[in-house]
Amino acid sequence: MCEYCGCRRIPEIARLGEEHETITELADEADVGRADRAIRNAALRRLRQALVPHAQREEQGIFTEARQAGLTGYYIEDLEEDHRRFKEALDDPESLDDATLETLLKDLDRHIAIEEYDVFPAASKHLSDEQWRSIERMDSAP
Ligand SMILES: [Fe+2]
Ligand SMILES: [Fe+2]
Repeated sequence: MCEYCGCRRIPEIARLGEEHETITELADEADVGRADRAIRNAALRRLRQALVPHAQREEQGIFTEARQAGLTGYYIEDLEEDHRRFKEALDDPESLDDATLETLLKDLDRHIAIEEYDVFPAASKHLSDEQWRSIERMDSAP
């Protein structure tokens, strides 16, 4: 988690950062449990449960607002493509072989680092108060 630029003072970024910590723990669990497929797949199912709504929240919230603020150079399309790929792989954890899983977990790690160290600090700098309020309103939307 990025602790340097102060972006965690924004509640949405703090929330997404906490979710990243949970996601990283579950990814580590799956990695450590590799030798036992049942343990590994159970961890991967929990990882999917944490990751899919998290990614959806990013896309509907911070990514949408970042685009509107003109932050188009922050690989948002690539990050969305990662979300799609991660979900597709985790939809069927049984089918993942060791090498594919290793690549997936490495990509997930890289993905989170880009969000934490590039996207979140940029968003904290460039999104308006109104944009953050609009993200917060997602929670009360019907
Ligand atoms: Fe993401
Ligand atoms: Fe994320």
